[in-house]
Amino acid sequence: MEEYLNVELILPPDNDNLGISSPLLIVASDGKRYYLKNYKVKQDGNEYTLDAAFFQESLAYKLAEFLNIPSPSCATIYIDEQTLNSFPDLRFKNKFTSGIYLASEYVENSSNDLNTLYQLMFTSNQPYFKRKVKNFFDLIENKDDLSKILYFDILTMNADRFTNLGNLIFQNQEDRKKTISIDYGFCFFNPFWDIPLSGQMQKIKCLQNEKDGQDRAWETIQQFYSWSSQHNQTKYALGLTFQFLNKNIYFNKGNPFKEIHEAAMTLTPSIITSMLNEIPDEWVVGGDQQRQAYLFFLQKQLANMTEVLDLMNNNKMFSNNTQGGLLKWEKEQSMSTQ
Ligand SMILES: Nc1ncnc2c1ncn2[C@@H]1O[C@H](COP(=O)(O)OP(=O)(O)OP(=O)(O)O)[C@@H](O)[C@H]1O
Ligand SMILES: [Mg+2]
Repeated sequence: MEEYLNVELILPPDNDNLGISSPLLIVASDGKRYYLKNYKVKQDGNEYTLDAAFFQESLAYKLAEFLNIPSPSCATIYIDEQTLNSFPDLRFKNKFTSGIYLASEYVENSSNDLNTLYQLMFTSNQPYFKRKVKNFFDLIENKDDLSKILYFDILTMNADRFTNLGNLIFQNQEDRKKTISIDYGFCFFNPFWDIPLSGQMQKIKCLQNEKDGQDRAWETIQQFYSWSSQHNQTKYALGLTFQFLNKNIYFNKGNPFKEIHEAAMTLTPSIITSMLNEIPDEWVVGGDQQRQAYLFFLQKQLANMTEVLDLMNNNKMFSNNTQGGLLKWEKEQSMSTQ
């Protein structure tokens, strides 16, 4: 059972570009700084309860840690009546009620560089912008992690990665930048469990999709494409962030997804089950049926990852590997082209 932390202090935000849940910068009872999230959010004047967001974000953080994806640590914060009385803004402004909330450890000296670059695209001349982008790409110290992040997003059906520039942050480290992945509430297709989303399949049906092989791989790619289309980003294939990751994934040293795939293959059903059992019951609105559905989904998706990436490669979706063909996953696959 994870230990719950409390809120000790609320700090002024260090960023005016915060997302729909407007996470709050806090100091928790372990003395560390965190971004505290809410599952009740406001967008375009409407309020939504994202009833699967904490469950999913918590599960994804555990998977990210297991797979060595660069991500902050995640904590559970208990907000009680006494805390709400001490910080009235929490209750009245930020709409927190008593309960358990999710927080990610504050990444110091980080910024939303992809957003900044995107703004530059409209305000600067082409050669200047191209130079800026190149300089930025050259500064990234953990390029090998980018293929891992892309693999992880497909594995978890992270609906909010490829089109949202704010979910990769960049930590300034001397003269280099480290890419760090955050925000997993929209993994597993959408942030909802029970709440019907107009025009979309019921969550449990998405998770319990029985399809395998090429059919499943096509559906996976089409799903990302349709999210890109909803955000008018098909000009950038699966989205603006996809394009950033894609342009920085190299194939000259072999299959860039091989290492993360090998790690993912060690995610046994019993490891996934333990992760699911560690999620606080308060966040599991659908009880054991919900836990079972995610286990089923992850097993199916894990078994299909090589198929998805081969399909993407064969359709020349990776800009640094224009020869297409199948990726090489094991030494004995001598017929592969990469
Ligand atoms: N652990 C962290 N360290 C540093 N900055 C963070 C951290 N978590 C969040 N942020 C900042 O806050 C912003 C919003 O956080 P996050 O993406 O988790 O919230 P959200 O409301 O779910 O966003 P979205 O708009 O994607 O739904 C991030 O883009 C980033 O700038
Ligand atoms: Mg976000």
